[in-house]
Amino acid sequence: MKQGAAAALFHRVECGNLSVKDVTGQPITVAGWVYRYRNQGGVIFVDLRERSGVLQIVFDLAVDKMLLEQADSLRSEDVILVTGILRARAKEAVNPKLSTGEVELLAQELSILSKAKPSPIPLDEHDDEASEDLRLKYRFLDLRRAPMQQALAARHRFISNIRNFLDKNGFWEVETPILNKSTPEGARDFLVPSRLNPGAFYALPQSPQIFKQILMIGQVERYYQIARCFRDEDLRKDRQPEFTQIDIEMSFISQPMIMELMEKMILGALRDVFSLDIPNNIPRMTYHDAMENYGNDKPDIRFGMKLIELGDWAQMTEFQVFKKALASGGRLKGLCVPGGAALSRKDIEDLTAWVMQDFKAKGLAWAKISESGLESVVAKFLPEVAQQELIKRCHAKAGDIIFFAGDTADIVFATLSALRLKMGERFNLIPQDQYRALWVVDFPLFERDKDSGLPTSLHHPFTSPVPEDIETVLTLGAKSPQELTAEEMQRLLAVKSNAYDFVLNGVEIGGGSIRIHETKLQSAVFRLLNISDAEAQSRFGFLLSALQYGAPPHGGIAFGVDRILMLALKRFSIRDVMAFPKTQKGQCLMSDAPSTVDELQLRELYLKSVARKT
Ligand code: AMO
Ligand code: AMP
Repeated sequence: MKQGAAAALFHRVECGNLSVKDVTGQPITVAGWVYRYRNQGGVIFVDLRERSGVLQIVFDLAVDKMLLEQADSLRSEDVILVTGILRARAKEAVNPKLSTGEVELLAQELSILSKAKPSPIPLDEHDDEASEDLRLKYRFLDLRRAPMQQALAARHRFISNIRNFLDKNGFWEVETPILNKSTPEGARDFLVPSRLNPGAFYALPQSPQIFKQILMIGQVERYYQIARCFRDEDLRKDRQPEFTQIDIEMSFISQPMIMELMEKMILGALRDVFSLDIPNNIPRMTYHDAMENYGNDKPDIRFGMKLIELGDWAQMTEFQVFKKALASGGRLKGLCVPGGAALSRKDIEDLTAWVMQDFKAKGLAWAKISESGLESVVAKFLPEVAQQELIKRCHAKAGDIIFFAGDTADIVFATLSALRLKMGERFNLIPQDQYRALWVVDFPLFERDKDSGLPTSLHHPFTSPVPEDIETVLTLGAKSPQELTAEEMQRLLAVKSNAYDFVLNGVEIGGGSIRIHETKLQSAVFRLLNISDAEAQSRFGFLLSALQYGAPPHGGIAFGVDRILMLALKRFSIRDVMAFPKTQKGQCLMSDAPSTVDELQLRELYLKSVARKT
């Protein structure tokens, strides 16, 4: 950079906030990227863009011929420094679309700080977006686009608002290690081989769960961290292999205390940063009600269309498929879609194929309601009284369709909850401008693993049962899960946990619990999870030991920053609110990670790859 330009940088002002009140006749200096460019003969207009906004610069032959020639060499995305005089635009030249549209800078000096090759992706907000893959490959250019700039600015403001709140409420920010022993949050670990300990591996944290509990035992009392978490799971639009949590833990608190404080924190930040007014005292829904009414534990309550219980109604019908499902311990539920009779046979066939493929449903029976009665594949099995009762229960009107799922409870819930969302979208039943939050509470402590039939944690193994169920867990925990009788297993599955999830518009944005703070109870839970005492010692010995040295009652929560921003900014995926996300295959298209490493590097780590070269 030339000396003059370096000196001028000292006086540089942000261009995006300039207005007529800055028109003083004194020279000012701005710097940024060449955005739009128009050459009109003796005058060249350049829209200069930087983080704060866009300003029109005028290069005029009447000011300096050499300057005009220099400006003529400018190309999009060149980085320039301009000194000139700010002036008000003539009335007819005012651009109401620009925040600086009433002024322009008449250039007197131009320094070209950096030349740019033509951009492979359009950066103008009025152009169509390039494909996501191309944008990710050239993320350094993509980050200059308005949507990414807005996302990063909002992310910064959101996190800083949260930090402020937590600071005011007595929380300490503490960093916990990234090279760890594995923390069980239900996903696969990313492993890091240790050179100094041949054959041993660190795991990247799935969350700072155990460390934050140890901090409570270490008298920290109120902890938070903007924590990076790593989970090797199948990726979706709201799941990345590394993501950010607002991670929180508190001592000497109860479930209602933490829920109230967290509600204040999140709703306050959403209000301050995004002007989203979600009233305090958001509703609490039990896990049982969420499943029965919506088929999942993160219901989108912006619209109704609840699942309808039809188990007892099936007895009025002659349809063996439904009766068989119920007789073998399954469930029958219905979903009434207003206006859904507009679906064609082909639509219904496609939906049936989808639920059979994705949710292992055995079929998707349906009934359309018309003025003259029921039109249905299964009408012949439904006597007149059953038809009348069905219409009454579903509050169905002419023009609606009722879908049926009769299967194991898991399949019925998975099928109808997905169908509810799909139909909600298809028939525009989801108010897109609304934000509806709720707490889901009273989760079971355990669920049954589909493959092994053994109990697994619904949240994680450190979650406490509710006080009235502690005795049950201690008693049953004297046995291993294989030794439990069927009746004991039922009692175990009925145990409720002291856990809570925060759900916004059908997305789980946070989850936490009151923790176990007694060794005896923690050991019982490990045993019920089929983790032997010896294995518990080797994996979590440090926690079990710490619990014996005076552990305060404690609990906490973690919120997913990326998911909150995705919702608040109405973006399609969390990739759109992260600076450097990975693709669905876990790749960074810009840096090409992950990549192979050379033999020597592997040898130093005592590793050998058996993967086939592609
Ligand atoms: P949990 O596993 O529920 O709890 O995670 C908390 C929140 O983190 C977000 N989240 C994710 N975001 C993006 N990509 C992912 N792969 C991903 N996985 C989770 C979600 C979720 O609600 N240690 C516990 C918290 C606690 O008990 O205090 C935990 O990690 O928004
Ligand atoms: P079938 O008697 O198998 O020809 O099925 C008649 C209708 O019931 C078809 O529309 C199937 O898609 C549907 N169906 C079959 N099994 C089930 C089930 N378990 N739950 C809901 N619908 C089903």
